[in-house]
Amino acid sequence: MKVLIGVSGSIAAYKSLILARELFKGGYSLRVILSRGALNFVTPLSFQELAGAKVFTDPDLFKGNTHVDLARWSEIFLVVPATYNLLGKVASGLADDLLTSTIAAHPSPVVFAPAMHTEMWENPILQRNIDALKEAGHVILPVKEGDLASGDRGKGRMLEPEEILRYLEDLRKAKDFWKGKRVVVTYGGTVEPIDDVRVITNLSSGKMGVALATWLSFFGAHVVAVACGSAPKAPAREFYRIKTARELFDLLKSMEYDYLFMAAAVSDYRPNYKPGKLKKDVSSLILNLQRNPDILSNLPKDRGKIVGFALEERENLRSEAVRKLKEKDVDFIVANPTDVIGKDRTEAFLFDRKGLLKQLSGTKWEVAAEIVKKLALE
Ligand code: CTP
Repeated sequence: MKVLIGVSGSIAAYKSLILARELFKGGYSLRVILSRGALNFVTPLSFQELAGAKVFTDPDLFKGNTHVDLARWSEIFLVVPATYNLLGKVASGLADDLLTSTIAAHPSPVVFAPAMHTEMWENPILQRNIDALKEAGHVILPVKEGDLASGDRGKGRMLEPEEILRYLEDLRKAKDFWKGKRVVVTYGGTVEPIDDVRVITNLSSGKMGVALATWLSFFGAHVVAVACGSAPKAPAREFYRIKTARELFDLLKSMEYDYLFMAAAVSDYRPNYKPGKLKKDVSSLILNLQRNPDILSNLPKDRGKIVGFALEERENLRSEAVRKLKEKDVDFIVANPTDVIGKDRTEAFLFDRKGLLKQLSGTKWEVAAEIVKKLALE
């Protein structure tokens, strides 16, 4: 696998050298970008000699399209260490050197391993930048509490090379698993017309589906994204937009897949549609609702694995998730507790037929990554 390592200017840069050496020994193909700050701590020669890596620095930015070529070449782009300044620049959309330009040109999420002093780590501006980067789909590895280069103890210490290596190994396994698999992801809320100007829908944002599609694309799957209603567009090789539950059902019946992620919030009922615009000529109006088909229950089960989603009260989450998994005859269910609605962090419980596989928490991006990785490693 082709790994691009970006190094920014921190004393923790020496760890990137150890990491590069281990990756080289593990058979990874390496390229390295050193920022101007990084050159104060490590040299191109050390990466060339210890890790057989081709090394790039700022002057290379003006030799052709180096930043675009490097971004296209890499299968995983790891910035280690990522300083306060680097994270701030990327979060603000700045691209004023080779490293930040390559990050800007990179088509899939970049993995950042932050390293800094505790006060800088706890600075609300840094935390806001990290949130923005996560929101944009990037991966921010955790920092540890421990001895810092200044002699202090506290939060901000970068992960050890072997911990980053383990993380990369998981990513590699996930890529091996998903590569070339045809994966359908449905997301957002279906929209059922009352008349030509009014609808019944729900508040599903579709963010989880977009995050799943982004990660699956990153891992090399052939993603078919099916957005319901006005849910945002997800990165995918094929893209469909549908409105009603019945349209979604018809589309899915015609599709082949290795995996189906059914994150769509499907309306269980639809009104009797009236063409035109209903007039307010009565003092009270009763909408007659018809049951929609339960799509998951009625899809053939011999095409591929199916992952259902369910929003449940925390007290009954396990029993309801397991009941739905069995009744709908699906392979996995991801259940979210209702009390996380509207919160920054989400929680998810992944079940298979045997029971709870994994409990996850974090942003939707982080949870989506963990779900996709867990399914690959199962
Ligand atoms: N689902 C479906 N067809 C429907 C309703 C839901 O395929 N008509 C799918 C959803 O996309 C989701 C899973 O079933 O993956 C669970 O959805 P949920 O709304 O939690 O379950 P329901 O069966 O609708 O049960 P209830 O609303 O009564 O809790």
